[in-house]
Amino acid sequence: MSVRSSRRGRDDSSELEQLRRQCDELRVSLESMRVYYEDLLGSLQDAIVVVDPGGRIRSVNQAAEELIGLSAQPLHDRPFEQAFPHDRPLQELVRKTLESGRTHTDFDARLTGLDGSQVVVSAVGSLIREAGGEARGVVVALRDQTRIRDLEERLARSDRLAVLGTVAAGVAHEIRNPLAGLRGAAQLLEGESGFPPTFKEYTSVIIKEVDRLASIVETLLSFASPRALSFRPCNLHEILDGLVFLEQAPLRDRGVSVQRVYDPQLPEILADSAEIHQVFLNLIRNGVEAMPGGGELTLRTRYERSSQRCGGLSVAVAEIVDQGTGFDPEIERHLFTPFFTTKEGGTGLGLAICLRIVEDHRGAMEATSQPGKGSSFRVLLPLAKQPGPAAQEGLRTS
Ligand SMILES: Nc1ncnc2c1ncn2[C@@H]1O[C@H](COP(=O)(O)OP(=O)(O)OP(=O)(O)O)[C@@H](O)[C@H]1O
Ligand SMILES: [Mg+2]
Repeated sequence: MSVRSSRRGRDDSSELEQLRRQCDELRVSLESMRVYYEDLLGSLQDAIVVVDPGGRIRSVNQAAEELIGLSAQPLHDRPFEQAFPHDRPLQELVRKTLESGRTHTDFDARLTGLDGSQVVVSAVGSLIREAGGEARGVVVALRDQTRIRDLEERLARSDRLAVLGTVAAGVAHEIRNPLAGLRGAAQLLEGESGFPPTFKEYTSVIIKEVDRLASIVETLLSFASPRALSFRPCNLHEILDGLVFLEQAPLRDRGVSVQRVYDPQLPEILADSAEIHQVFLNLIRNGVEAMPGGGELTLRTRYERSSQRCGGLSVAVAEIVDQGTGFDPEIERHLFTPFFTTKEGGTGLGLAICLRIVEDHRGAMEATSQPGKGSSFRVLLPLAKQPGPAAQEGLRTS
């Protein structure tokens, strides 16, 4: 081997060595960039799904995994449409963003979970471009809107209730006195010396119907007028047991047996016991009315340390479960609307009153049903003693 060729060999190998080093450095810096971007995506509260121009999923951050209920791995490299087969608006969003190159937004998209449950999300699709301008893919940012929608709904409902309350109070007030007059006149008629006994049938109908109207008016007034609540630590089980005792005759007559599944460690709630009594009386009556042929009514209680629905407060959850007719989604939307009733002779105020009382206690109500099989009404009520920093907030209600 000549001196020249051996020198060239040395030059080549040192060049190769240098290239290898540069390559290693590049790999390290690429890896650290990858980790950096993954950390960045991971730290975002919004759910992020990155889709390539062919419509395949390239990246899913932790918030997205939590929202979808699936880990990123099985989603990686899957076509977006296969990963979200039930969510057409989201598929459309990705398609439109890729086709138009513009950002698209859907404030009211639905995301279907593995168990079929739906989450309302706001979705934004933005195009990512190469330096040369061609599309590299779409970033889909999803934000869970359930809580915001829930709050909006509650706000709208309390606005409606406030207006309705004022109108109802006015009307009820005006009706109360004439009703008393009608009843009095019917009684006077009955007392007249020449009053034919055969007409008694009619006057008793007048008196009975006037009494029924008066009781509706009283319910309306109690619903509409502001009351001074007196909050004290109360034992929820004592309230429920007292009700079962009071209602034993109608329960027996309707062939309804009561099953109590109590959490023996349940702490006291902070409540106006008369009002809470009213809540469970309405719920038990509804349960019984939903089972015309009898059945089982279950009263279940449990403790929840931090309830999302009640701003993180510790709550007692009481559930009233019946085996009755249940209700369909259309009825479910109106359950708590005043005067909504499907019952002959019902006022439709029972659940509206329950909700108003429970919200005055900073609690919450939920209802679920399997039509034809039964319903479950859950009442969440803040505890008298709140562990940790929520304590002061919780007790401020009193
Ligand atoms: N446990 C239940 N099972 C099935 N449907 C129910 C149940 N509870 C309530 N509902 C439905 O919700 C409606 C409203 O209930 P709510 O208690 O407000 O009024 P109501 O029972 O109809 O009348 P009121 O309580 O004044 O006698 C009912 O008419 C019924 O359609
Ligand atoms: Mg009712």
